[in-house]
Amino acid sequence: MSNFKYKSCKQLESSLFLAPDELRSCCQRFFYNGKMRGDASLLKVKKGQSPTPKQILDAREKIFESIQNEKSDSCTGCHLLYERDSKPNFESGLDHLSVEQHTFCNLRCSYCSPMFYGGKKPNYNVLDFVKTLSKEGYFKNLKQVVWGGGEPTLDKSFELLVKEINSHTSPEIYHRIFTNSVRYSQSLANFLKKGLVKIVTSIDAGTEETFKKVRGRSKFHEVFQNLEKYSQINSNKITIKYILTDENKSEKELKSFVKTCIKFNLENCAFQISMDYKSSEIELDTIKKISYFIGELKKNHIKKIFCDDHIARRFKTLNQNQKDQLEKYIELKRIKSVMITNQSIKSINIFGIGEIAENIIYKTKFLDNFDNVDLYDSDIKKIGTKIDKYIIQKPEYIHNNEDKILILTAETYNDIYENLINMKVNENRFVSGLIV
Ligand SMILES: C[S@@+](CC[C@H](N)C(=O)[O-])C[C@H]1O[C@@H](n2cnc3c(N)ncnc32)[C@H](O)[C@@H]1O
Ligand code: SF4
Ligand code: SF4
Repeated sequence: MSNFKYKSCKQLESSLFLAPDELRSCCQRFFYNGKMRGDASLLKVKKGQSPTPKQILDAREKIFESIQNEKSDSCTGCHLLYERDSKPNFESGLDHLSVEQHTFCNLRCSYCSPMFYGGKKPNYNVLDFVKTLSKEGYFKNLKQVVWGGGEPTLDKSFELLVKEINSHTSPEIYHRIFTNSVRYSQSLANFLKKGLVKIVTSIDAGTEETFKKVRGRSKFHEVFQNLEKYSQINSNKITIKYILTDENKSEKELKSFVKTCIKFNLENCAFQISMDYKSSEIELDTIKKISYFIGELKKNHIKKIFCDDHIARRFKTLNQNQKDQLEKYIELKRIKSVMITNQSIKSINIFGIGEIAENIIYKTKFLDNFDNVDLYDSDIKKIGTKIDKYIIQKPEYIHNNEDKILILTAETYNDIYENLINMKVNENRFVSGLIV
């Protein structure tokens, strides 16, 4: 038998990203050999041309070939590449679709780029293209649709597109909408009422002044007012993000942000702590500010808090000097309980085994702090498989002990939280905090 292995990645096999003038197979961004890579382009779309499923197939095959020869500029060094025995079937449809078909935006965030706010209209009729894909059966196994851009809610066909995609997919599908929430969208509110969408909004400031610096316009209060209205519909579907930058990570700013969230009744939303993906490293000062931030959120009884994959990817074992500095800071701020290892936890359950968990398991010594560790995931394909020395177990087995539970996913944090509550798991078992 031959030992030959192919290199591939799940994104290339079953994801599609619709940009204004090209189709991409992913929106991964990573550094390799000093260069930012990813965003693998499948094909450029010229004005007035509609891409065809055959072109997508050919483009995927082409990237796949260049990955085998290690000649792909975008994919070389990508941590999502894996080995497999057979060639993938690139015709088996999509499980992930991202719609970023225009780049019009009413903000100008300092960390963003004209790639997202440059004002490009799509070169092709996106609704027709989506209809072709659904006719060809591309959406039969679709699990999630992610909407970005630009600001997705500014597109007049936003509602129509959501409805079109939705009418050709399974009822379990969900739409994840990245919106800046500057303008209240009635369509979005209606979809929220139907339980069809989840919202992610980055706020990135605790004051109007900093909001203007980081996000380019004075819309601080509008964003909070709109989020309050969305969260009155269903706060379990709302994630509030904070991208820590040099402009917004002062203690004063973070304190004021948390205070404003409480004022606008956002305490039941999930809070995602993030960083600029263009930075190649995470500085010790940023880790200190993350601990301060978690401390403030916890003091205000906010329970759903997590650091996302941009942070997890940059996790590393701190050296003794850095550890000492961090501990000193945490003691000075009297926020010892932000460190999960300071919460007197002997055994721990980790729920959601994806990229974040893998980074923590392989790149840090975090798990060495516990006498016993159990891993769980809802994906049946993962159950029974091994990560390092741990076997991933079924969600129901979480009832086999009374230990604390740490949810380690970004995209599905809210859903896992909700599912576990529905499984009658006691809310006091959930823990969040700093992992170092
Ligand atoms: C490009 S925006 C488009 C959707 C919408 N305008 C919004 O801001 O939510 C999608 C997401 O990308 C994030 N983003 C943009 N540039 C980033 C960067 N340099 N680092 C980390 N996240 C970034 C934004 O915070 C936002 O959550
Ligand atoms: S290997 Fe990485 S960069 Fe290439 S398509 Fe897959 S996720 Fe994107
Ligand atoms: S709101 Fe979104 S698209 Fe607009 S500039 Fe900010 S991150 Fe970019």
